[in-house]
Amino acid sequence: MSRATPSTASCTSCTSTSPAPTEPTGAVHGRRFAWCVTGSGHGLQQSLALARRLPDLDLLLSAAGEEVLAIYGLTLDVLKRDFRVVRDKTASGVPVGQLYENVYHTVVIAPATSNTVAKCALGLSDTLPTNMYAQAGKLGIPGIVFACDTEPVVVTEAPHGWVTLRPRRVELDHVERLRGIEHTTVVASVAELEAALSRRLDQLSLAWNTSSS
Ligand SMILES: Cc1cc2nc3c(=O)[nH]c(=O)nc-3n(C[C@H](O)[C@H](O)[C@H](O)COP(=O)(O)O)c2cc1C
Repeated sequence: MSRATPSTASCTSCTSTSPAPTEPTGAVHGRRFAWCVTGSGHGLQQSLALARRLPDLDLLLSAAGEEVLAIYGLTLDVLKRDFRVVRDKTASGVPVGQLYENVYHTVVIAPATSNTVAKCALGLSDTLPTNMYAQAGKLGIPGIVFACDTEPVVVTEAPHGWVTLRPRRVELDHVERLRGIEHTTVVASVAELEAALSRRLDQLSLAWNTSSS
């Protein structure tokens, strides 16, 4: 963790010299979107098209996200033309410290694999996206998650063509569980993602970029 990461110890163990704990107040933190990409082909290109239209945004990749993006032709070199890219290279989620330094006002995970949705729903945080989501939630920073497996039948574009998937009860249950977690908006389509982002921009008195360059 970064030096800025606050202790999670109980306040009964705080010394008189410790800084006062920060309360999640609903106040707006940060100036940038943290947009996390996981290893999902479903909704990948459409999600990134929306990310390109947002102001002040960093792209944070899971290790699988980095691999899957490359399979779809989106190598790091390509992504770095449009985004500041943060890779998942630490076991402890070092970039998460940026949340404590008021860099980010919103954490988006889009698209989110069923693996990442399950981890987020269960409170696990062992990848950069799941760590960002969990720590943001503890700070009261909103999270928007575009879950892949939300319907009994999902038609998705694999690298070599369209496939039909039938998410199991376990995947659908994790989506429902995630919907109940504080500071979380779960969306199930690109249209819902765009609408959720528009609402967040309004809250922040920001606007979509008018140019994608
Ligand atoms: C080309 C490709 C596409 C994939 N698309 C999906 C997908 O749409 N949804 C999904 O849940 N997993 C998908 N996966 C599997 C995930 O990448 C895999 O479960 C990975 O462990 C997820 O890790 P992450 O959630 O940390 O990113 C895909 C894998 C590959 C190689």
